[in-house]
Amino acid sequence: MEDLQILSVKDSDKLIAVCGCTHGELELIYSQITEWETQNNYKVSFLICCGDFECVRDEFDLACMSVPDKYKKIKDFQRYYDGTKIAPILTIFIGGNHEAMNYLKDLYYGGWVAENIYFLGYSGIINVNGLRIAGVSGIHNRSDWSKGYYEVYPFQYGELKSSFHTRQYEIMKLALVKDPIDIFVSHDWPTLVGDWSDVRALTRIKPYFKKDLQSRSLGSPHLSALCDMIQPRYWFSAHLHIHWEVTIEHKDLYGETTAVTKFLSLDKPIRGRGFLDIMGLTPRDKIKFCEDNMKRVYSSMRRFCPQGFQVVHDEESESDADMESSSEESKNSTTEPEEIKEEVKDSLKSEVSPAPESTTQVENEEEKESPFSKRDDQISMDLEWLSIVKITHPLMPIGKGRFNFDEYVHPLQEGHHKLILEKEEVYKELKDKNLDLNIPKLKNESLYTQWDAEKCMNKQSQAYIEMLDLDSTFFQAQITSMQKTVVPPPSFTKPDNNEISLDL
Ligand SMILES: [Fe+2]
Repeated sequence: MEDLQILSVKDSDKLIAVCGCTHGELELIYSQITEWETQNNYKVSFLICCGDFECVRDEFDLACMSVPDKYKKIKDFQRYYDGTKIAPILTIFIGGNHEAMNYLKDLYYGGWVAENIYFLGYSGIINVNGLRIAGVSGIHNRSDWSKGYYEVYPFQYGELKSSFHTRQYEIMKLALVKDPIDIFVSHDWPTLVGDWSDVRALTRIKPYFKKDLQSRSLGSPHLSALCDMIQPRYWFSAHLHIHWEVTIEHKDLYGETTAVTKFLSLDKPIRGRGFLDIMGLTPRDKIKFCEDNMKRVYSSMRRFCPQGFQVVHDEESESDADMESSSEESKNSTTEPEEIKEEVKDSLKSEVSPAPESTTQVENEEEKESPFSKRDDQISMDLEWLSIVKITHPLMPIGKGRFNFDEYVHPLQEGHHKLILEKEEVYKELKDKNLDLNIPKLKNESLYTQWDAEKCMNKQSQAYIEMLDLDSTFFQAQITSMQKTVVPPPSFTKPDNNEISLDL
């Protein structure tokens, strides 16, 4: 089979699935993953959804989502919220521009929206299975970029859209991150993706991108700046409904490549289109300097690999040992810039390790217990991120006014430097407290009790601000508005299963 690619996955690799805009099509996405798992006898650790998740529980949520009338439908999520179904795989998502913004607003700092489905927050960092995942919700809009948060649901005219526009405050927080990021997730593309793309190929598929590419405005310029600052190993996006990937090189002052980010954007969830990839990621301590080692083991894009992939479990790989020694070498490296350049070129060429040719070896591998035969999906908070949230909390922009955070974003500015020092202090304090960073799983039956009617807040958000000793600044306008009403939001009223449907 000409197009069949054979890939070897090592014990130390982490298997993850990534999808583009979810648009409420959870059934399709989960069925593709579980089908692949059954065929290969592997389990994927977790799924990342890059926005437009549409966690719509009921009509009220639907009214809080900005979407043309013809798309206003309650889709699969409702059955995952009411407990009829449970997500078969840990699902982590960020917000896009089509979301039940009332629900996401209640979970500004992140939290469970259904059993096994976790919202990363307006911005956030978590750790899952040894991978550090950062993300930001929303899309870029020039006029709302510097505004504060002022929207209160049920949203008034204009608020429906402005509520999902990313504020500079969120990017400013992420710009304070210093520890390495494995995966960054955004709905929008960073504009620099256009700089590293084969523009002719891209505009052949999407001709209407041409104008934006020429003016370097396809996506968010602020995400570009952030990408250059934090230089994650992988960056996943959606929004533009195309399966697209490029390698972004980060350069130093001398124009030398010092790191690379592998960018991947996924399509919308329609069979045969590239809306879902499954890949093996090698842990950070096992990779060579600048190595591009994302090993795709499945892609829903038939055009990409019509016959699919055959995956083999490469437990005793010699290259593992090589990796370890090269990782050691890179720590103590005195490599000259020219040699580094060559090494980068070489590593960019090698997509995946060649699979062993012997079929006997493959059969033997199958008999052994694979590290991928069960899920490993413990999710935990990130201490550096908690420190950043705490030190930037007093700067939370509230109201329709303009807020400029430039002095806190750019590394050469005093405001940024001051916050970095504060972050280090707070980091030490939080570490001394020995906080339990594990995020406990939330069962579906508990979701209906998440709303605290007295405080007019989701209990997960309450627990978060109590843990960091913050106040409820972000939620205050909503709380004040809701205190005027006496009934809880309809979404937290458990449906009566004994009720006879009028359709019967
Ligand atoms: Fe979108």
